[in-house]
Amino acid sequence: MTGSTTWDPALYLDFDDHRSRPFHDLLARVGAVAPRRVVDLGCGPGHLTAVLGARWPDAEVVALDSSAEMVAAARARGIDAEQADVVHWMPPPDTDVVVTNAVLQWVPSHRQLLPRWIAALPGGAWFALQVPGNLGAPSHALIRELAEEEPWRGRVDLRDEIAVAEPAEYAEVLAGAGAEVDVWETTYHQRLAGPDPVLHWVSGTALRPVRDALGADAYATFREQLAPRLRAAYPARPDGTTWFPFRRIFAVARTP
Ligand SMILES: C[S@@+](CC[C@H](N)C(=O)[O-])C[C@H]1O[C@@H](n2cnc3c(N)ncnc32)[C@H](O)[C@@H]1O
Repeated sequence: MTGSTTWDPALYLDFDDHRSRPFHDLLARVGAVAPRRVVDLGCGPGHLTAVLGARWPDAEVVALDSSAEMVAAARARGIDAEQADVVHWMPPPDTDVVVTNAVLQWVPSHRQLLPRWIAALPGGAWFALQVPGNLGAPSHALIRELAEEEPWRGRVDLRDEIAVAEPAEYAEVLAGAGAEVDVWETTYHQRLAGPDPVLHWVSGTALRPVRDALGADAYATFREQLAPRLRAAYPARPDGTTWFPFRRIFAVARTP
């Protein structure tokens, strides 16, 4: 389901401020001064690739993503994105920076890929990743719980969700590959507005495979059943806003 998930770039961008912040927090720990090639692995709609271009205007900035919809959205904003699956990607020898933000949770084999990518990078290169660390949060647990009930059981496969590792494992894998590592986690206490904002949020990400598996009509029913559970787990405050805590895991590695 990973590389073939259908994305909706406009829906994904609805929470742009909250979704972009971890990218900036990640990038703040990358110290590259004059990189030759900068790669945005899983560039999505390309709005953050543009940030890489602005920070390193003399670098060749390369963007790739497996989603045709995301690649089209990135190209529409002037990013020369290429459709490719990160599973088959290896860094060209002049790659001095790799950034992969909110992507590797969709790539179950990434823990095996990380040491190979680190080994292929030149000396002094930077590899920066961020993945959501919220699979145990009610937002995701409730999707899994509903998917296990009739009539959904067996129709939705969410097993790839176990792809994300804990910070200690990223630290170990990257240090084991010989890199200097900087690993941390942050829980963002996000304040969302509007009706059913958590349902709206997960519709842009975690529910994409559910939509692909069920088709439009059954997916609408699934969402209707999920909505009251999310409302109970994330109650609206008297002013109409909703707190949606979101844990994220960051790792920055520098090759020797
Ligand atoms: C949550 S979005 C993040 C996009 C962007 N990096 C950002 O921070 O806004 C996840 C992106 O990962 C891409 N993706 C998922 N699996 C992929 C794979 N195997 N190869 C390449 N891209 C992948 C999706 O198509 C989607 O655009």
